[in-house]
Amino acid sequence: MYRIAPSLLSADFARLGEEVRNVIAAGADWIHFDVMDNHYVPNLTIGPLVCEAIRPHTSAPIDVHLMVKPVDRIIPDFAKAGANVITFHPEASEHIDRSLGLIRDSGCQAGLVFNPATPLNFMDHVMDKLDVVLLMSVNPGFGGQKFIPETLAKLRAARAKLDAYEARTGRRILLEIDGGVKTDNIADIARAGADTFVAGSAVFGAGKDADPNRYDSIIGALRAELAKAAA
Ligand code: DX5
Ligand code: ZN
Repeated sequence: MYRIAPSLLSADFARLGEEVRNVIAAGADWIHFDVMDNHYVPNLTIGPLVCEAIRPHTSAPIDVHLMVKPVDRIIPDFAKAGANVITFHPEASEHIDRSLGLIRDSGCQAGLVFNPATPLNFMDHVMDKLDVVLLMSVNPGFGGQKFIPETLAKLRAARAKLDAYEARTGRRILLEIDGGVKTDNIADIARAGADTFVAGSAVFGAGKDADPNRYDSIIGALRAELAKAAA
C-alpha cells in the first residue's frame, strides 16, 4: 500500500551500487534518482550513465526525477539506461502532453512534479497519461531541507483529484511526496494522502552511522509510522 523510495542524492556517491543494494535489502521499494542540471535547478548531479551503472544492482524500480530543462531530449537516454518511472516539472517542458507521451512510448511510467508554488491544475487535461503525481515539499535542488507544512493541504487537494479520477476511470495514479520526509512527519503525510515517500537524508543520513552501512532500522521506523497512519 505504501512505497518508500530512498533518494540517492544523500547516498555515498563513491559506493552507489552497494548503497542501492543495501537500501533495497533493508526493505526499500523504489530507488529515487535525482537528476539536476545546474540550469533548471542550482545543482548538478547524475545522468543516464550512472542510471545504467546502478541498474544491474537491483530489480527494484528506478524512479527518475528530472530537474532539467529542456526535458524531452534526455527521456530516451534514461529509458535505455533502465529507468522505470520518469517524472518532470511542467515548467521545464514546452509541451507537457508531448513529454508525457514520449515517456510512455519509451516504455516507462510517467509523472508530473509540482513545486511548492506550482498549481495542481497542470494535471487536469493529461490525467490519462499520468502514472504518478509527485508533490515537492521543498524547493528542488538540494537534500536535507525542511518539509514545507503547506504541502499537507496541497496533498489533500491532490488526493481528492486522484480519487475522483479513479472513481471515474478505475485507474489509480500514485501520489508521491519528495522533500523533508522524516520519521516524525511521515504518518501525517500519509494521512494527507501520499502513498509513495521519497526520503534522502532521513535514510542515508541514519545508515551512515551504522557499520556496515545498514538501513534496516530507519526503514523499519518509517514503516512503523506508516502503519500508524493506516490504522
Ligand atoms: C530535492 C530532491 C529530493 C531530495 C530529498 O530536490 O528532489 O529527492 O533528495 O532529500 P531529503 O529527503 O533529504 O529532503
Ligand atoms: Zn527528488
